[in-house]
Parts: sequence; structure tokens; C-alpha cells
Amino acid sequence: MTETIERREPATARDNTRKVFIKTYGCQMNVYDSQRMGDALAKDGYRPTETMEDADLVLLNTCHIREKAAEKIYSELGRIRLLKADKASRGEELRVGVTGCVAQAEGREIIDRAPVVDLVIGPQTYHRLPDALARVAKGDKVVDTDYAVEDKFAHLPGAEAPQIRARGVTAFLTVQEGCDKFCTFCVVPYTRGAEVSRAFGPIMDEARRLADAGVRAVTLLGQNVNAWSGQDVAGRPLGLGGLLRALAEIPGIGRLRYTTSHPRDMDDDLIAAHRDLSALMPYLHLPVQSGSDRILKAMNRRHTAADYLALLDRIRAARPDIALSGDFIVGFPGESDADFEATMRLVEKVGYASAFSFKYSPRPGTPGADMDGHVEETVKSERLQRLQALLREQQTAFAESLVGRDVEILVEKPGRYAHQRVGRSPFLQPVVAAADVGEIGDLVTVRIAATLPNSLLAEGSGAVRAGDTRNVA
Ligand code: SAH
Ligand code: SF4
Ligand code: F3S
Repeated sequence: MTETIERREPATARDNTRKVFIKTYGCQMNVYDSQRMGDALAKDGYRPTETMEDADLVLLNTCHIREKAAEKIYSELGRIRLLKADKASRGEELRVGVTGCVAQAEGREIIDRAPVVDLVIGPQTYHRLPDALARVAKGDKVVDTDYAVEDKFAHLPGAEAPQIRARGVTAFLTVQEGCDKFCTFCVVPYTRGAEVSRAFGPIMDEARRLADAGVRAVTLLGQNVNAWSGQDVAGRPLGLGGLLRALAEIPGIGRLRYTTSHPRDMDDDLIAAHRDLSALMPYLHLPVQSGSDRILKAMNRRHTAADYLALLDRIRAARPDIALSGDFIVGFPGESDADFEATMRLVEKVGYASAFSFKYSPRPGTPGADMDGHVEETVKSERLQRLQALLREQQTAFAESLVGRDVEILVEKPGRYAHQRVGRSPFLQPVVAAADVGEIGDLVTVRIAATLPNSLLAEGSGAVRAGDTRNVA
């Protein structure tokens, strides 16, 4: 659906030092998309700014995954309405766009509910953003939520514009978008459309250019990243394992990760890649959602708890030091005490290094929202608290198991204090190290001396008392 709704204000003369503020919600895919939109707008003469007050274009790149995430946007738009009025009283203009998954799901309803919005554009059509803005500048309101047939990545700057993409030594690289799994709780298949894999050539090009621009760690992104499929240059079929093998050959790229995976798409070759590739980090985010077979079935996850555990056994056989992470939902419709206890037992069996857990949030248009047996909010809260306490315990135990051990870190940024640098462990934990440990971008080995709530301290990083979190950058 592409439409121009109404013509409102007349066009105003604008200088060419326009400034854009992009606020990103939701997952890493949105973070990546925000950067690409920023790049497209830079080509169009927009400079980024750090504050909304300073901007003449605000884009909210939104998330629709849970009700809270979606509702946040409307309170933010309420504040923006005041800012726009304030600017208007000084003769300044502010354009407002909503992008991302709320844009895709709600389309022009957003403008009906929040008339401050000038532009609604869905994730498949960001390459049309400059055109849409040109129409907005003429006073139009624009809604563009097509599932575009053309490849948006082919039209967005990035691969051909590394100088504006290099933002440090780590980068995301989208290789797959969309989802065909239709878990009954989830909006993603509706907001991101069908599974599409980006072609091998452009992925390799973007990765090489990132490496040339100083990037040392690349995280491949996709809603179902391990469903990626393509062909190598010789036309041979390739899965994510094969893509990772090719990427690991690129000089400069020392670390590879991928997220998010579905248990059903972990094939033998991908598991073997964890055994064979030292650049592939021993950390895997593999959501399971529930430990109850009855609930897994109602969620349409299409595997059992035993399938998941057997899969983890195979992955751990290939890469014994792998750290696991997961996502959990408590209080899915019909979840009984016994179902929840099955989730707790699964977590106990696995031993997670980190995890994300959520109360089920009914999403309009998904099958789960219409199911019987919705669980009371207080029950959801109690279950979430118990689950999170267990997961926190496991996360702490995992961090503490590293104390006294040598761990390779990628030095990523300066620390809070001049005598410190911050890096990341293979298991994605921030590690505070001494400044002389190496330059930003170096892979160095440090010995872990202590743990803080969300990071590790390397030996020589400076005196810290237990519980002192001020050293964390
Ligand atoms: N593609 C990923 C998940 C993307 S959404 C996968 O298949 O695992 C990220 C997480 O949000 C999900 O794993 C799930 O735990 C949570 N989530 C999704 N929809 C939700 C809902 N309606 N209520 C609560 N949590 C939800
Ligand atoms: Fe959502 Fe399921 Fe697709 Fe993940 S696999 S994005 S949870 S529908
Ligand atoms: Fe949210 Fe869309 Fe990502 S709903 S989690 S921003 S795919």
C-alpha cells in the first residue's frame, strides 16, 4: 500500500544543512536498518544529530513485538507534538516519521491516532525514504508499507559507502530478513514479511568493505538467520554454515557471530562450522520459549523440549565450550503451573550463560491472542520473577566460572577511566582491561580477575572493590 493521504501545510524553503535524529527501538535488525537509513539520508544532505530538539527530521524506528514496545511510540509522539508546536512558534519546522514494525503493522492508523506524524514507512521500503521525504517536504503525508519486490539492500547505501558505515571495530550485517515460521504469539511474520535471503555476493562484498574499514567482528543478522540459503560463486547451494566458512576467510575478520536462530534450522553443516571455525564465537542465542511440549505445540514451535535438548547435545559435542543464550515466554495462553515447572526444569538442565524472558503479550492479529486460557497478570509476574531469578543465578555462575581463566578479548573502546579499555569476551560479556592491553581492534588474551553484575574485570584493570560498578564503561 503506497498512498499519499492529504496535502497539509505548504512547502517551506529549507536550507541544506538538515539534521536528522533517529531513535531506535526493538531488535538489532532495527539498529542495522537505522544505520542504513542514516546513510541514505546522509547522501541526501542530512547530518545526524544527538538530540531531538536540534533536529528537523525525527524518525522513530519502532518495535511491535510486545504491547509495551508499541505503546511507547505513542507517548513519544505525544512529546514530539509539543516539540513540533514549540518549534513552529519559533518559525522552525520539524518533520516526523515512523518506521519499523509498528509502521508496518499499523500503517495509516498511526497518522489517524497521532496527526503529528508526516511519514509512515515500513521495513521493506527504506530505500524509498528519500523520495518519500521529498513528497513530505511538499506538504504531503506519506504512508508506504508495501512488501517491496525489489531487494531493499541493493538500493540502500552501505556496501558501496564504507566510509560512512565504519563505526568501530564491530558491525552488524543483515543476511536474511522475514520469517515463515508463524509462531502463534509473534508479529514478526506480519511486520517483516516472508523469509528472504540476501545473495552471497553482496554479503561478501559488504563484509570485505567492513573489514577494510577496520571492522574486526561481524554479527550476521536475520529474524531466522540460520534459515539463510544461497549459492556460492560457482553456483553450489550454500547454507549459513557455508556462508560462515567463506566469511572466515576474509582477512581482518577475526570474529563471527549470528543471531537469531530457530532450533529447527540448526543443520549439520552449521553445527560442524562451530567445530571447524575458530573465528565463529562459542556463543549461541537459541530461543526455546518454553519447556512444556503442550505449550510448544500451541506456540507452533514445531519441536519438543527433548528435541531441543538433543540438539544442544550435538552442538556441545561439536564445540564443548559453547555458551548458550535463549528467549522465554511465560504465561502463554493455557500455560498451567505444571507447564511452567517444565520450563524451569529445562532451564536447570541447560545452564544458560545469558537469557531474555518475557511475559506473554497478546498481539492483535496473531493466533495466540484469540486462544482460550489467558493467564492472569499476577500469575505471569510471579512466574517471570522465578524464572528470572534462576536465569540470573546461572548467568552469575557462568561469569564466575571464568575467574582465574585466560580469555581472548576484542578491544572495542576506551574505558571510563584513562587507564582502562573495554573489550568483549567470546561469550559477549564486556571485559574491563588495562589500557596498555592493546589497541582498539586488537584481539588479546587477558586473565579474568573478578566479576561485576554485567561485566568482567581483567587483571591489571585497576583496583576495584566488590560491588563497585563505576568502572564499567
Ligand atoms: N526470531 C526469533 C525471535 C524474535 S522476537 C526466534 O524465533 O526466536 C524476540 C523474542 O521476543 C522471542 O524469542 C520471544 O521470546 C519474544 N516474544 C515474541 N513475541 C512475544 C509476545 N507476543 N509476548 C511476549 N514475548 C514475545
Ligand atoms: Fe517470531 Fe517464531 Fe518467526 Fe521467531 S521464528 S520471528 S518467534 S514467528
Ligand atoms: Fe521488534 Fe520488529 Fe525486531 S517487532 S523485535 S523491531 S523485527
